[in-house]
Amino acid sequence: MAASMAGGSCRAGGGCPGRRALALLWRGLCSGSRRPSDERDTHFGFQTVSEAEKGEKVYQVFETVAKKYDLMNDSMSLGIHRVWKDILLRQMNPYPGTQLLDVAGGTGDIAFRFLNYVRSQRERQVQQKLRSNQNLSWQEITKLYQEEEHRSLGGSHVVVCDINKEMLKVGKQKSQRLGYSEGLSWVVGNAEELPFSDDHFDVYTIAFGIRNVTHVDQALQEAYRVLKPGGRFLCLEFSHVNNSLISSLYDLYSFQVIPVLGEVIAGDWKAYQYLVESIRRFPGQEEFKEMIEDAGFLKVEYQNLSSGIVAIHSAFKL
Ligand SMILES: C[S@@+](CC[C@H](N)C(=O)[O-])C[C@H]1O[C@@H](n2cnc3c(N)ncnc32)[C@H](O)[C@@H]1O
Repeated sequence: MAASMAGGSCRAGGGCPGRRALALLWRGLCSGSRRPSDERDTHFGFQTVSEAEKGEKVYQVFETVAKKYDLMNDSMSLGIHRVWKDILLRQMNPYPGTQLLDVAGGTGDIAFRFLNYVRSQRERQVQQKLRSNQNLSWQEITKLYQEEEHRSLGGSHVVVCDINKEMLKVGKQKSQRLGYSEGLSWVVGNAEELPFSDDHFDVYTIAFGIRNVTHVDQALQEAYRVLKPGGRFLCLEFSHVNNSLISSLYDLYSFQVIPVLGEVIAGDWKAYQYLVESIRRFPGQEEFKEMIEDAGFLKVEYQNLSSGIVAIHSAFKL
């Protein structure tokens, strides 16, 4: 298992930075053709492009679709993406006080769910307190409620970090419309070079984001770096279907229907063709699990949802 970037010395469960640098160099030499400028080729969907081009193209995709992004998600998945995101939150099961970093957080779906979840956990705590204290007067009960309202998130906070300003803009507007203000901030940043200090967050999430990143291994190392020891990594991503009948139907739907929906709803066929192709290019469940281990994480597990159409990978920085 290779090491994490998060320390200058070799650490248990993490390996040695020097050794990992060599491993990364070796992997790099093996996996792509080098250009004279030292920039490697990569893929953008099924196209081969330079790494710099990929970043620009991904940016353009999300800049173009930002305003229709939520509507397209609901239309393409028939609303099922909401269920997948709810399951992610249930797996996280955040306690009041949790500091969450949601990378590639886009229009804030994970962040809003997080805030709702923590708020309901707090409410449950208040109810329990009241039930265990049967002799309180109504004044005391009212006071308790008021106090808890002020601390309704119990110090929890979520940072939504995304490289795309348009996606964040739509997210911020949505948060104002839905009344989320407390415990939430929006930061422009690249998953491969996060603008946060080491050992900072309790949980790192990335939902439908990591397959868009040019250097997935760097994004994983950054996730490891910014998590506190004991912190949890959770990734929700399209994955590989494990049932041949569903796989054929899913392929048919993906290639024949999704780009058409993209054209009709968002006016952008190519953006949604990229979506479908990028899903096919992303590593399968086991390979991605190994990549997470290579970044230094332990207890790496995954859960397939909807026959592997998506998977949740979970891991810890221990
Ligand atoms: C499919 S959207 C997912 C948005 C949100 N997480 C959700 O589940 O609805 C992918 C997001 O990844 C962002 N993204 C792509 N490359 C990124 C990078 N290198 N760093 C941070 N965000 C990135 C895009 O801007 C876009 O908002």
